[in-house]
Amino acid sequence: MNATDSFLAAAPATAAEAPLVALHDVHLSFGANPVLKGIDFEVQRGQAVSIIGPSGSGKSTILRCITGLLRPQHGEIRVGETRVDALRTEAELIALRKRVGFVFQQYNLFPHLTVLENLVIAPTRVAGRDRATAERDARALLDKVRLSHKEAAYPGELSGGQQQRVAIARALAMRPELMLFDEVTSALDPETVGEVLTVIRDLVRDGLTCVLVTHEMRFAEEISDQVYFTEAGVIVEHGPAARIFGAPESERTRAFLHRALGEGPRASSAPAALPAPFPETLAFERLRFAL
Ligand SMILES: Nc1ncnc2c1ncn2[C@@H]1O[C@H](COP(=O)(O)OP(=O)(O)OP(=O)(O)O)[C@@H](O)[C@H]1O
Ligand SMILES: [Mg+2]
Repeated sequence: MNATDSFLAAAPATAAEAPLVALHDVHLSFGANPVLKGIDFEVQRGQAVSIIGPSGSGKSTILRCITGLLRPQHGEIRVGETRVDALRTEAELIALRKRVGFVFQQYNLFPHLTVLENLVIAPTRVAGRDRATAERDARALLDKVRLSHKEAAYPGELSGGQQQRVAIARALAMRPELMLFDEVTSALDPETVGEVLTVIRDLVRDGLTCVLVTHEMRFAEEISDQVYFTEAGVIVEHGPAARIFGAPESERTRAFLHRALGEGPRASSAPAALPAPFPETLAFERLRFAL
């Protein structure tokens, strides 16, 4: 059994038939601006599910709802047995975020800690794991993301692709039941995109349950069990990757894919620029690590 398999074994075996993630009729507005307009969304354990769609269609908002960073005005969100939309206290949110790993476009590694320490800090300080176990897990994960030789380096000494792989390993170090990836390659140099996608592909093959927002259409087609296409806050259609990419039912999906694939995989839905300073990202990290 390799490191990732042992992490996956942490998922409870109960309710095997129930989806791990379920959103039902989720509506969310920012002020007068409706952004999610009745989202239904499901992820079964062991599945890789991609969300694709134009910029501003609500993809990141869906992920933020799953982590409890945003609360919808209407609808239900479940992660396992937890009603995420009903969580109120910071302690409840921290408990949820121990179970859900979230990797963003921006890596947010702790710059003053070595790569190894970046992976050890949350398992020891938040999850209460002993140092020897946390280090053993960290080394296994660094091997998994092919960065064993960098455990003593500081984030500033790594390339963007290497930092992003450390960020993925750091999220996995908490042994999450679920991983969310939001445009994790869109801030990277083209030559380092492939190494990050390779790592995610390996994790998906090992059976990691994940939701992936990506503009890498060919990658989404290759690795996803299910693909959801969003536009203007609604799910236009969803289904197995082969059907969505091979025979989309909606003219809108067809037009999007034609544009996305026709203009090259990096042109489809890439955000124009990193929003700064990413307050929700920081809030997530602070809450998750309780630092
Ligand atoms: N914190 C916020 N306050 C107000 N409006 C927001 C906020 N976050 C997102 N929005 C708006 O909600 C809509 C959906 O945003 P979201 O980030 O979910 O889109 P997206 O599909 O992830 O786009 P992209 O592909 O560019 O990342 C957009 O119109 C955006 O301007
Ligand atoms: Mg987004």
